[in-house]
Amino acid sequence: MSRSNLYVGLIHYPVLDKKGEIVTTSVTNLDIHDISRSCHSFGVKKLFLVTPIEPQRKLVSRILNHWERDDANAYNPDRFNALRIVELVDSYHSAINLISEWEGKGPKLITTGAKVTLKDQPLTGLESILKIDKTPIFLVFGTGWGLAPNIEEEADFKLAPILGANPDGYNHLSVRSAVAIYLDRVNELFADNSL
Ligand SMILES: C[S@@+](CC[C@H](N)C(=O)[O-])C[C@H]1O[C@@H](n2cnc3c(N)ncnc32)[C@H](O)[C@@H]1O
Repeated sequence: MSRSNLYVGLIHYPVLDKKGEIVTTSVTNLDIHDISRSCHSFGVKKLFLVTPIEPQRKLVSRILNHWERDDANAYNPDRFNALRIVELVDSYHSAINLISEWEGKGPKLITTGAKVTLKDQPLTGLESILKIDKTPIFLVFGTGWGLAPNIEEEADFKLAPILGANPDGYNHLSVRSAVAIYLDRVNELFADNSL
């Protein structure tokens, strides 16, 4: 079983703010640590942290470099191993270019979000891409109030949202939870070991 062509992106630009305007959000330490652990646990090849803001990239680099030091690695190798899959980029197009270069084939760009849309496809939409096509997948998650329309428009499709079970329809998960739930569900697609 291998999902080596699955890539995840955490997008800090372009995302929406509360008023529906396109903004850049700040990278949070919690997201880096928690999402890299989920991604590494489920065999994701790289977790791209996407921010165009140079001081933010410097800050993230400092965090990553800290955990790469020998003493930090010796103190907590689990954290070190998870953070090794993090790749810092200035735009999601840079991530797409890197994946294309590494895989010799451009990835399918697949978005996520809590709302139901016309572009939604069930998770099984990933199955044939991963199992038959072997095309790399770049599965992207939003921050702030979610992904901006321009990245949605560029996407090959959007994954149907995680609906939850509350009768009032509430399904606004933290991005950390959403990543973990989807990755577990993707893993279930391969439970028959036919990949
Ligand atoms: C809008 S951000 C919220 C960021 C928030 N500040 C945090 O700390 O997580 C949450 C992201 O997680 C994903 N997400 C959240 N709830 C979801 C759901 N029910 N179904 C699918 N994706 C979801 C989407 O990628 C969404 O853009």
